[in-house]
Amino acid sequence: MSGSDKPELIINGKRLDGRGMDELRDIRIEAKVIKNAIGSAYIEWGNNKILAGVYGPKEALPKHVSDPERAIIKCRYAMSPFSSLEEHGRTGPNRRSTEISKVTKETFENVMLLEQFPGSEIDLFIDVLQADGGTRAAGITAAAVALASSGIPMSDIPYAVSVGKVGSELVLDMNKIEDNYSDADLPLSISPRTGDILLLQMDGNMTKEEIKRAIEMAKKAGQKISDIQKAALKLSYERTLEKYKI
Ligand code: CDP
Repeated sequence: MSGSDKPELIINGKRLDGRGMDELRDIRIEAKVIKNAIGSAYIEWGNNKILAGVYGPKEALPKHVSDPERAIIKCRYAMSPFSSLEEHGRTGPNRRSTEISKVTKETFENVMLLEQFPGSEIDLFIDVLQADGGTRAAGITAAAVALASSGIPMSDIPYAVSVGKVGSELVLDMNKIEDNYSDADLPLSISPRTGDILLLQMDGNMTKEEIKRAIEMAKKAGQKISDIQKAALKLSYERTLEKYKI
């Protein structure tokens, strides 16, 4: 720790958990984990544990929120009261969860073929069971698998990851302690097929050059994240085929 109680996050070129600057935490995804949801996924991303569930399309209610041209997405991101020490005892939405729900919904509005379901709503629930930094990115990555597993048509399966800045170093996929003491955090969601950026937020400051490098880092890591998403979907389809002996 320095005099300001800020821990050294990079020691001898390694991060506190032993990762290099451009290394992801371990990611494991399972699709179709909730029997009564139309689509679902469970993700373990480092020490994050998150469930995503999808319902719909169904009639949009209340009526005045419906759109006669397309389906609307309702998204609710929530941290469970036992997901982190900060959340202990807290329930219900707050400013942060409302913001994450909003940006998640906007991410998926870019890739879901909503015109196919006028007047309907698609409900997306993201429940953080255990949090350790980067839950919005992990939540979006899981939600993308949940939505794809529901069969609701999408033009792509987005992934998300955050790139941070520690001193002058860019670091991929920060955990909570890195997030707490970093100089900047840039969560991104990207469509792997087109390379389009569907979500970009920034907490702290990065130069234009750093943002460019951060996007490159996220896209490189995204190939791996995408592969894990697709493998989870493939496995769930194979299990279904086996179950029904197709
Ligand atoms: O989770 P994400 O990095 O997308 O969002 P954040 O607002 O930057 O929060 C960083 C981390 O702080 C979260 O992942 C949690 O581990 C922790 N946190 C928490 O435990 N309780 C909160 N109310 C807010 C954040």
